[in-house]
Amino acid sequence: MANNNNNNNNKNNKVVVMFPFMAQGHIIPFFSLALYLEQKTKLKIIFINTPLNIKNLKQSLPPNSTITLTSLPFNSSHHNLPADSENTDSLPYSLILNLLKASLSLKQPFHDFISQLPTPPLCIVADMFFGWTADVAQQFGTLHTLFLTCGAYGSALYFSLWLHLPQCHTSDDEFAVPEFPEAAKIHRSQLANNLKYATGDDGWSKVIHEELMPLWMKTQGMLINTVEEIDQTGLVYFRRKFGDQVPIWSVVPTMLNKEQQRPNKKSGIDVNKCIDWLNNKSTSSVLFVSFGSQNTIGSSQMIELAHGIESSGRDFIWVVRPPFGFDINQEFRSQDWLPRGFEERMAEQNRGVLVHNWAPQLEILSHKSTCAFLSHCGWNSVLESLSRGVPIIGWPMAGEQFYNSKLMEEELVVCVEIGRGPNWDVSRGDIARAIETVMGGGEKGEAMRKKACEIKEMFKESIRDEDGCKGSCVRAIDDFVDTLLDSKNKAT
Ligand SMILES: *[C@@H]1O[C@H](CO)[C@@H](O)[C@H](O)[C@H]1NC(C)=O
Ligand SMILES: *[C@@H]1O[C@H](CO)[C@@H](O)[C@H](O)[C@H]1NC(C)=O
Ligand SMILES: *[C@@H]1O[C@H](CO)[C@@H](O)[C@H](O)[C@H]1NC(C)=O
Repeated sequence: MANNNNNNNNKNNKVVVMFPFMAQGHIIPFFSLALYLEQKTKLKIIFINTPLNIKNLKQSLPPNSTITLTSLPFNSSHHNLPADSENTDSLPYSLILNLLKASLSLKQPFHDFISQLPTPPLCIVADMFFGWTADVAQQFGTLHTLFLTCGAYGSALYFSLWLHLPQCHTSDDEFAVPEFPEAAKIHRSQLANNLKYATGDDGWSKVIHEELMPLWMKTQGMLINTVEEIDQTGLVYFRRKFGDQVPIWSVVPTMLNKEQQRPNKKSGIDVNKCIDWLNNKSTSSVLFVSFGSQNTIGSSQMIELAHGIESSGRDFIWVVRPPFGFDINQEFRSQDWLPRGFEERMAEQNRGVLVHNWAPQLEILSHKSTCAFLSHCGWNSVLESLSRGVPIIGWPMAGEQFYNSKLMEEELVVCVEIGRGPNWDVSRGDIARAIETVMGGGEKGEAMRKKACEIKEMFKESIRDEDGCKGSCVRAIDDFVDTLLDSKNKAT
């Protein structure tokens, strides 16, 4: 009995507070990290977010989990947002800045929450959009680390572009990124809208420069959602920028968790039906097309893409969403948005499956019949594709996706980029040629597929967890945990 109490006390002293930004792409890797730490360590996790996000997470929490889910008071109606909007997934792009500004109202509640804990937590692991948590951590003598949910290369470019706004200081279309000579120049077309129109005095620049950036530099450690071996260039940037005092750990929690927790999403196609269809196709013969749950392409681009895919002669699975300008969650109208008779012809020839809404992406990418992935290059999709050895046809749409595509094309050489942004002028011929390059028998395609297989092995190695033989990802997380426990010993 006494023993038990002791253990509990110990546990209670070793609390880690985790706080992702209110976006699915951030919450998922944070939650995955929480589950992994729960399994592997004696750390007690408190997971913080706003009420609706916490309510959704409760459904994915295993019944025997010891993770505490805590919501901070937040009402979107009080922040120039529609009612019940607490996640970027339920907001149009034009309102994302409002959500970011609204999130600053969580400062005081977060501070109050930490102050009422019996003892200060060992560590606060916060999102890069919650850089201000570094001040709170400092007040309570708690270790502070950021967890960047994007890759190192993409984050480094994003970071440096916001820090220096080089696009404002030149009229050239191509320019170098300050403090990051290892990265090739970038082109204006590779700037997301908020960066493209940044002046230093606009809403985005103000929040980032005044509220977030000064505090990023106060963090004491940084977890990055990446694999060391594929993301060296970006990691060089962060290690130089933050110096030796700030450890940088490359960990991909969603890969460490064997039984992955997936968000409850209604699949637009039965998983088994999709796998049956793939089972019937020959090895490495199918193109998978998806722009993720948040992105879509323009109407004329959608028509060109359909023609391009049809004339490539390749089999495909395509996750279709209403074109740019329409509500992305409305019903897909094939008769309006695809070439006449396209869906019927593809079905008749058993050449393709159009999935409305959501597809079992990881299962498709893991299938041996899948050869290539035409993707918006969101980081989660990149990780899923590379860890399965599937080369990419890149069509980045927003955020740091442009730099993920750049990383894969220029550094990893497993990607051919065909467009930038939803309204990029891309022809059916360009699309068919890119598909042939990546999937066909030419030298370039062979080399890309071989490279993708090598990267798949790197991913596998990185999560190897045997005594005396641990991969980079496992070593990084072990080191992260040791650092937390050391900080505790030093404090007492
Ligand atoms: C919960 O139960 C599962 C299945 O029995 C087990 O693998 C896991 O370790 C348990 N988790 C905790 C935190 O006890
Ligand atoms: C949020 O605020 C609005 C307006 O003040 C109110 O009508 C609504 O009930 C509040 N929602 C919650 C969940 O408290
Ligand atoms: C499998 O392929 C055969 C021949 O191409 C076809 O007749 C059959 O309908 C296919 N089955 C499925 C599930 O697609």
